[in-house]
Amino acid sequence: MTARIIDGNALSAEVRGQLAERAAALKTKGITPCLAAILVGEDPASAVYVRNKVAACEKAGMRSIKDVYAVDVDPAVVFARIAELNADPSVHGILVQLPLPKHFDSAAVLESISPEKDVDGFHAENVGALMQGNPRFIPCTPYGVMKMLESANVPLKGAEVVIVGRSNIVGKPMAMLLLAQSCTVTICHSQSKDLAFHTRRADILVAAVGRAKMITGDMIKPGATVIDVGINRTAEGKLCGDVDFETAKEVAGVITPVPGGVGPMTITMLLANTLEAAERCAK
Ligand code: GUN
Repeated sequence: MTARIIDGNALSAEVRGQLAERAAALKTKGITPCLAAILVGEDPASAVYVRNKVAACEKAGMRSIKDVYAVDVDPAVVFARIAELNADPSVHGILVQLPLPKHFDSAAVLESISPEKDVDGFHAENVGALMQGNPRFIPCTPYGVMKMLESANVPLKGAEVVIVGRSNIVGKPMAMLLLAQSCTVTICHSQSKDLAFHTRRADILVAAVGRAKMITGDMIKPGATVIDVGINRTAEGKLCGDVDFETAKEVAGVITPVPGGVGPMTITMLLANTLEAAERCAK
């Protein structure tokens, strides 16, 4: 058996088309959705992510602001800029690309973003709202995964879900979203004993650990849905996920590829959140 592939590029194009129409409708009311992205330092992967986010905004008819700071910038400068963006009514979404350099208190930076403009959904108030089942902004990567599951008609009610990875960005919010859809959710992590015991039970397996090809076909239940959130590079410099696609696709029923899977959906849902924030301003 070869798994059905969820094409993140195709789904992204479809959703971005709908978003562009909504952005155009908002423009007739005199509002252009605007995302401000802050990047500190020169991490090449972060620089690429921010560049892609800003480019995606422009393509969808949204405005974007990109502020780049040197790796040794005084955090006070960044806090002052966030305060300025919070107060600017023409800015609807603000994101600070993570990770930040060590001399930053990342939690304090995230808390300084106005919760109404926190399109990443990382502010404690928004994390709390998500936990309570009443989210204001859904974090972009888990939001994209939910869209992919929906598009592939993967049954959620009562499904055994195993998430590998417990990050604030993916693992934890992913668990909340799937729990809200009545899945039975297990979160595994680097200290979990017998990882394969857990993964082999999963109807839906979400890999979000950041280790190249660590989930192999023998760790997957036949017919399972496998969602690969990882973006890694092989020793040869080739992009790959946390899942060993070649062996996994022979066992899984449905699978997402890397590249062209979850990655494009993350940016798409960032656009969705920014647009949503702008639409709330129009009400
Ligand atoms: N770093 C890795 N993923 C993300 C994300 O979704 N948002 C931000 N701001 N930083 C990240």
